[in-house]
Amino acid sequence: MAFRKDFLWGGACAAHQFEGAWNEGGKGISVADVMTAGDNVLKKPRRITDGVIPGEDYPNHLGVDFYHRYKDDIALLAEMGFKAFRTSIAWTRIFPNGDDEEPNEAGLKFYDSLFDECHKYGIEPVITLSHFEMPFNLAKKYNGFMDRRCIDFFVRFASVCFKRYKGKVKYWMTFNEINNQAELHQMGPHHMVQEGAVLVQEGDDIEYMMYKSAHHELVASALAVKACHEIDPDARIGCMIGMNAVYPASPKPEDVLNAQQAMHQKYYYVEVHARGHYPNHILKKFERKGYDRFILPEDEKILAEGTVDYIGFSYYMSHSTKYTERFGRSFDFSEEDYVRNEHLKVSDWGWQIDPLGLRWCLNWFWDRFEKPMMIVENGFGAYDKYTDENEYYVVDDQYRIDYLSAHIAAMKEAVEYDGVELLGYTMWAPIDIVSASTGEYDKRYGFIYVNYSNDHKGDMSRARKKSFYWYKNVIASNGEELEFKGF
Ligand code: BG6
Repeated sequence: MAFRKDFLWGGACAAHQFEGAWNEGGKGISVADVMTAGDNVLKKPRRITDGVIPGEDYPNHLGVDFYHRYKDDIALLAEMGFKAFRTSIAWTRIFPNGDDEEPNEAGLKFYDSLFDECHKYGIEPVITLSHFEMPFNLAKKYNGFMDRRCIDFFVRFASVCFKRYKGKVKYWMTFNEINNQAELHQMGPHHMVQEGAVLVQEGDDIEYMMYKSAHHELVASALAVKACHEIDPDARIGCMIGMNAVYPASPKPEDVLNAQQAMHQKYYYVEVHARGHYPNHILKKFERKGYDRFILPEDEKILAEGTVDYIGFSYYMSHSTKYTERFGRSFDFSEEDYVRNEHLKVSDWGWQIDPLGLRWCLNWFWDRFEKPMMIVENGFGAYDKYTDENEYYVVDDQYRIDYLSAHIAAMKEAVEYDGVELLGYTMWAPIDIVSASTGEYDKRYGFIYVNYSNDHKGDMSRARKKSFYWYKNVIASNGEELEFKGF
């Protein structure tokens, strides 16, 4: 058998994308609560508003009502045989404004009940502390992680969670896809808000702000790792990297070097998390760009003492990049250098489907860090077609089965042939939820269908898709049976 006996099979969600109840139980407003709905078909991007404005459409306010339905939802996950369930703790349920002195007991209680419910079925909670949902007050009042005080606010939040959930949560992660900002800062303020929760004004040097606020997040993460080890020595805490392989568009040496430099730029974060110091290529870049010294001498010690226990990462697609001479010999990389890889198909959202790339990524991490890994997101967003003509399922999502089984096969090869150490696989997302990038309901990932759509029609009832039965068998066979075997 390729996978270890205690392999953590499961699925992953994030609080802001499915809990709803945005203002219940004393919860404060998060940055996700001020993001409007977008639409892939209409090419309408999400917008960020200055606070919650009446009349705007904020899909994260409702999510899929998990806050009220979690018992039934966890029961469905248990029916599939889940060993692990990854979700996040909404920071604003615990510290509604982020800078509050005391935590909000009602918020803490909610997660107590949720984790107890998971354990009832032998499901291990895998918990992200910050998943694109910083308190809006911190973004507004302090300009998010541009201000070092947010380091302390985050560590206070993390420490409260470690103490409260000691014995209930064994696997933690600090910042979700901390590295997304490496390229998204080039796409404008909206993304900065989602990642580092930094509000950008006209004329700001966004790249500088990205590096500086990301540095403060890295320091906050290292301090949280240290606190976690002190508070609960049995827990393991990792980072979370949004990992998409970057290939050269051709064997032309410039393209090859450009791809390597893109990997530097997009993934230096994991080098800091795992090795405890910045790689030289980034320090050289700071020097070249004349950035002030935001890495304080005491930060170096903190980073060195707060290296992660494992590497959590998401994988959805790969990219190819072409050298355009835009940045000369520095080979800095920009999103605009991406080119379409003709060998790969794309999803309806233009995401390139590349199962083998997952094996490449597992090897990339393992070769560098030799730390255990967990694939904490991998999934297929699609327009599902509802049917009431089958007695078992409401969606025939064979395309989702095809996507996931091909990726699981690739990760199995990485374990079998390459010997990487893999702790688990939590696909994204077992239940249909609100999309993070577009704010849509119609981009569906789940094994469980949620009766709700972009136009706000539906009663939120849950129903099984064909993939539900498929995954159940994958888990039961510990990843040995990847074909659909029936109901
Ligand atoms: C990851 C995020 O980037 O991708 C999730 O961690 C997100 O929050 C997932 O939902 C899929 O992206 P999207 O935009 O399709 O929801």
